[in-house]
Amino acid sequence: MNEIIITTVAISGISAIFAFLLTLADRTIGNYGEVSIIINEDKEYTVQGGSSLLSTLIDEKIFIPSACGGKGTCGYCKVRVLEGGGPILSTETPFMSDEEIEKGVRLSCQCKVKENIKIEIPEELFNVKEFAAVVEEMEDVTSVIKRLKLKLPEGEDISFKPGQFIQLKAPIYEGNDEEVYRAYSIASSPYDKDHIELFIGYVPNGICTTYVHKHLKVGDTVQINGPYGDFYFQEDSDREIVLVAAGTGIAPILSILRYMKEKNINRKATFYFGARTPDDLMMTDFFKELEETMFDFKYIPTLTRATEEHNWQGERGRVNVVIDKYLENGEYKEAYLCGNKAMIDTMVTALTAKGLSEELIYFDKFD
Ligand SMILES: Cc1cc2nc3c(=O)[nH]c(=O)nc-3n(C[C@H](O)[C@H](O)[C@H](O)COP(=O)(O)OP(=O)(O)OC[C@H]3O[C@@H](n4cnc5c(N)ncnc54)[C@H](O)[C@@H]3O)c2cc1C
Ligand code: FES
Repeated sequence: MNEIIITTVAISGISAIFAFLLTLADRTIGNYGEVSIIINEDKEYTVQGGSSLLSTLIDEKIFIPSACGGKGTCGYCKVRVLEGGGPILSTETPFMSDEEIEKGVRLSCQCKVKENIKIEIPEELFNVKEFAAVVEEMEDVTSVIKRLKLKLPEGEDISFKPGQFIQLKAPIYEGNDEEVYRAYSIASSPYDKDHIELFIGYVPNGICTTYVHKHLKVGDTVQINGPYGDFYFQEDSDREIVLVAAGTGIAPILSILRYMKEKNINRKATFYFGARTPDDLMMTDFFKELEETMFDFKYIPTLTRATEEHNWQGERGRVNVVIDKYLENGEYKEAYLCGNKAMIDTMVTALTAKGLSEELIYFDKFD
């Protein structure tokens, strides 16, 4: 018995010494002093070395998309590193194609700034702005989803394409000791330039959603930055449009439909929305009104768990089943999908089986 206690104490002691040495090494070896970052050959910044490229750029008000807050799990924060940056890490390679590795693409949250570094980023990222927005409206649209309307500061506005997203900063709050950014799709119309509407679902123990659902109030100020994303409405097409969403995936679809209505775009569009029960449906009156007022729009909600008590008269089953029933001539259509990975994967299979070309199926995966 004594031997077990002595061994346990010894192992704990050795671990503590190792932890101390690692911290000491990080503080001393990790002091890289001032280094320079050259971006797109023409902009130079002098920064303190030692942090990730992502957080170093944020300090310089250059915002790279990051949906996981720098945990190395979303793959959104890619930048091309032309010089410096060290070798690519095993945490990065699962997100890279061979071509990207060849070109020096890195996850900026994993790549540390330890020496002078040259990088290349899309020019449009210099247009990403940060705003201190005020929560003007907040309501429960289902038991787990809140709709937020944010007002941008007086005199400031945002330009975005319908379908794009912003990042919302969750600050430090009781139970959370780190600031994190999370991606949320914009639901408002690009014509409403001084507001941003969001639909945020509650994830148990999630840092940002707990902040929004349990701490945030009307009148509070939140930090957002954007816009980001290559999922957006394709203006230069005249194809019929298939829109598919589940849960908070409704947000970018709303933005697209609002834009189409306000710009008077005369393209046939059908929106398939998947939910479990009637309680999970949102904005029903709005979609019904669009059916009356838009060029040729149809809203088809479908429920997987409607019971007798719900007295549901609409479609039942998963969205792919309903698509199978209604969708014809897929070769003349393009599709916009938004929701979780499983739903998107199923839908891509269902839509290509109906004749849609894979290049014309645009999607945003939320997890
Ligand atoms: C481009 C893009 C757009 C997005 N738009 C929206 C949007 O409009 N509305 C919206 O609500 N969300 C949206 N998301 C998801 C959002 O960015 C966050 O991932 C989500 O809100 C969880 O953040 P969190 O900080 O609360 O959870 P975290 O602290 O990041 O996660 C806590 C735990 O929950 C798990 N988890 C994370 N998300 C989910 C989930 N959805 N379901 C179950 N478990 C989960 C994580 O793996 C982790 O284990 C979008 C994501 C992307 C990439
Ligand atoms: S921020 Fe998500 S992988 Fe880098």
